[in-house]
Amino acid sequence: DVFPVILSGGCGSRLWPVSRKHYPKQFLKLASEHTMLQDTALRLKGYNSPIAVCNESHRFILAEQLQQIGHQPAAIILEPVARNTAPAIALAALAAQELNENAMLVVLPADHVIEDQEAFQSAVEVALEEAKNDTLVTFGIIPTKPETGFGYIQAHEQKTTVSRIARFVEKPDQKTAQAYLDSGDYYWNSGMFVFKADAFLKELKKHDNAIYQAAASAFQNAASDLDFVRVNSDDFMLSPNDSIDYAVMEKTDKGMVLPINVGWNDVGSFSAIWDIRAKDAAGNVQMGDVVNIDSNNCLVQSENQFIATIGVDDLIVIGTKDSVLVAHKDKVQDVKKVVQYLEQTK
Ligand code: GDD
Ligand code: MG
Repeated sequence: DVFPVILSGGCGSRLWPVSRKHYPKQFLKLASEHTMLQDTALRLKGYNSPIAVCNESHRFILAEQLQQIGHQPAAIILEPVARNTAPAIALAALAAQELNENAMLVVLPADHVIEDQEAFQSAVEVALEEAKNDTLVTFGIIPTKPETGFGYIQAHEQKTTVSRIARFVEKPDQKTAQAYLDSGDYYWNSGMFVFKADAFLKELKKHDNAIYQAAASAFQNAASDLDFVRVNSDDFMLSPNDSIDYAVMEKTDKGMVLPINVGWNDVGSFSAIWDIRAKDAAGNVQMGDVVNIDSNNCLVQSENQFIATIGVDDLIVIGTKDSVLVAHKDKVQDVKKVVQYLEQTK
């Protein structure tokens, strides 16, 4: 029994000022006529309704957006605080097991673009077949640049189908990422996972029991609130803050990687948005009331005022009702520093 799990608890701070704490990027239409969350829910067909995990403050946005596309989730699990993906996936695994003790999970972050749905769905089928062996299956993407925001996976054998993971390194530094890229030996981790709920929980227990215990008590002591599962706040707060990548995937010997070529993109920063959007002859992406004169390869987006650029290259200019961001395209990973600044000072 297969349950898609939609992770929707991130805050999208690298997409400020478009993505805001109370309305983060997964709830925005960044890549299509649907929001990122809706595209994620529409991605898989033929399985159980998804289990969604999000922050409690986003419960109505999430429920409403899924309703708009006619989806009734199997469960909506609410976290009182963000403790990253390891505890979030643990909650989903526990909820799935309650629905079916042999539940299998297809974990999908709510902030990805996948162009070739059919190829992806076939890959998921292969991964599900493999995961019957109690393994934790990842999807490998052929890297194109020394991106430091991703996990890197070295396969045990270079195969076009599923292979054991020899090494999993989450978010290496620039030099290491470059070496991995040059070696031609590594995949990017796509951030999507397929496993039996039970297999994941066992590995989590083994490699980070504190997260397992916190998630298990928080789930056990959860309260039902309308259609929502509100996990116990005191218990959940005790969980270490860690991602599945650091807490489990770097350590487990049950990891497998399945290479995929499905037009995958993590819409994590404004340069990724520039990548996926249609450009004019000068390479500019223009959204809203904007003009670029003698400017090249810029992303200029305006919500409610006119923006003009002249003679600049590789700039990101984003205007919203209350804020303006101007950043070099190579520095967009640092947009989260603006959010940190605002949190500390305002
Ligand atoms: N429910 C919940 N709770 N969801 C969360 C939380 C949380 O505390 N934290 C993050 N998420 C969600 C995000 O909304 C996103 O959909 C997904 O989990 C992944 O989190 P990110 O914060 O976007 O992770 P990342 O992009 O830095 O890294 C992961 O994805 C990369 C590929 O996109 C890792 O798996 C990397 O190894 C991978 O390369
Ligand atoms: Mg991400």
